Amino acid sequence: MTTTLRKLNTYYIRTYGCQMNELDTEIMVGQLKARGLQACDDETKADLLIFNTCSIRDLAERKVMGKLGQLGNLGRIKNRRAVIGITGCMANAKKEGLFRKLPHVDFVLGTNNIGDLNHVLDEVVQTGRQLVMTDDEFSENLNYLQTHREDKVKAFVSIIRGCDKHCTYCVVPYTRGPEVSRPPESIIEECRHLVSQGYKEITLLGQNVNSYGKDKPEWTCLFHDLLYKLDQIPGLERVRYMTSHPIDISRELMEATRDLRTLCEFVHFPIQSGSDRILRKMHRIYKKEQYLEKVAMLKEIVPNVALGTDMIVGFPTETDEEFEETYKVMEDIEYAFAFLFAYSPRKGTPSMRWKDDIPEDVKNQRLQRLIGLQNEITAKQLADMLGQEVEVLVEKLNRSDRGHNILKSRTRCWRKVIFPGEPSMIGTLQRVKIHSFSNQTLIGELVQKNSLVLQH
Ligand code: 5AD
Ligand code: SF4
Repeated sequence: MTTTLRKLNTYYIRTYGCQMNELDTEIMVGQLKARGLQACDDETKADLLIFNTCSIRDLAERKVMGKLGQLGNLGRIKNRRAVIGITGCMANAKKEGLFRKLPHVDFVLGTNNIGDLNHVLDEVVQTGRQLVMTDDEFSENLNYLQTHREDKVKAFVSIIRGCDKHCTYCVVPYTRGPEVSRPPESIIEECRHLVSQGYKEITLLGQNVNSYGKDKPEWTCLFHDLLYKLDQIPGLERVRYMTSHPIDISRELMEATRDLRTLCEFVHFPIQSGSDRILRKMHRIYKKEQYLEKVAMLKEIVPNVALGTDMIVGFPTETDEEFEETYKVMEDIEYAFAFLFAYSPRKGTPSMRWKDDIPEDVKNQRLQRLIGLQNEITAKQLADMLGQEVEVLVEKLNRSDRGHNILKSRTRCWRKVIFPGEPSMIGTLQRVKIHSFSNQTLIGELVQKNSLVLQH
């Protein structure tokens, strides 16, 4: 589709999927702002539209295709001649194939090329030609300090891109490529910069943060080494990370969780299935027993740890008995958070060779049972917290009703807590006594006003 566009003044960007995509959007927005573009909330008015897409499950892709199809009728027909780009995992998964279905799209920019955004925009604007750039591997060319964040208290920081694990159901190794760790100096520089701007909490991001540094042995900086370095940054209050693979969760990481001032006692420990046969078929490279041993070790080292998991139901050939094993693990471990999914076959992944033989209604029943169980576990855990005092980091104003302000905050274990307080407390640590809860949210009252106000 030809585009004879003049200057781009405004952008509209929509993000689908995981936190890594959210961060990539913030990195791209930083580049657009540096180029002088301004945000525009109205997709029918912006000069540049970017859709930062997700391929993890079929539904995610269908949402994007629906949206873009609709825009095809809208944008070009009205002859607005906006530039439209697709970034994110679908860009890598479908490449130029996207132009066949969506001829009004101008560029396709892969997950490993977000640093090339401005260069691609120049090309598209000057030549009017459609352009595809989807490198297989990430190479460090980002100006991280330019990243534009809306949140002023907590920030995502990328530490490793890609994944080498090749679980048979997962597209990530194909859309994001092999693991590439970011140099520790660069991470530390960005974290220091964030703290100097007033940020209090950093979430380190990667598809598998626990294998950080393994691709660069010469750095002698593994994930736990990095955490020890970040712990030294004055003014940084909390460090979290997403996501991990159980096989790489080391004793050193568990000890760091116990010992480090900043590292929150929350470990994402995704089991995916409780059946050894399914785990083997998923190529998860651990057995249930090994997983449970690691969890036991972690609970011994960090008794107050909160655990998170991801689980997939309805993987090809999963029997009722095998599903019950997954259910049993959930009952036994009592996770604090569980992200639960029905299996969705993804093109290009090894599991495509097996028939997607579990009917959708069976997948859904299994999913609903896990959701029901997790809700019961959560309710029990929240009830146990009634009357307790917790330390929270105040993130933002939850709502304000005729001068009565309710603040939104989180505990170190990522529990959401709301309580009445002043907006000036945003970005500070406070102590809150929990008196009730509703769904997933704890409700409380401030205990010692300003007792823990932080130094900048
Ligand atoms: N189908 C369903 N869930 C999936 N996940 C990854 N790929 C698939 C798939 N094909 C889930 C896994 C992973 C989380 C990010 O998404 O549980 O941990
Ligand atoms: Fe996908 Fe995570 Fe497995 Fe990597 S470890 S292939 S990102 S599910």
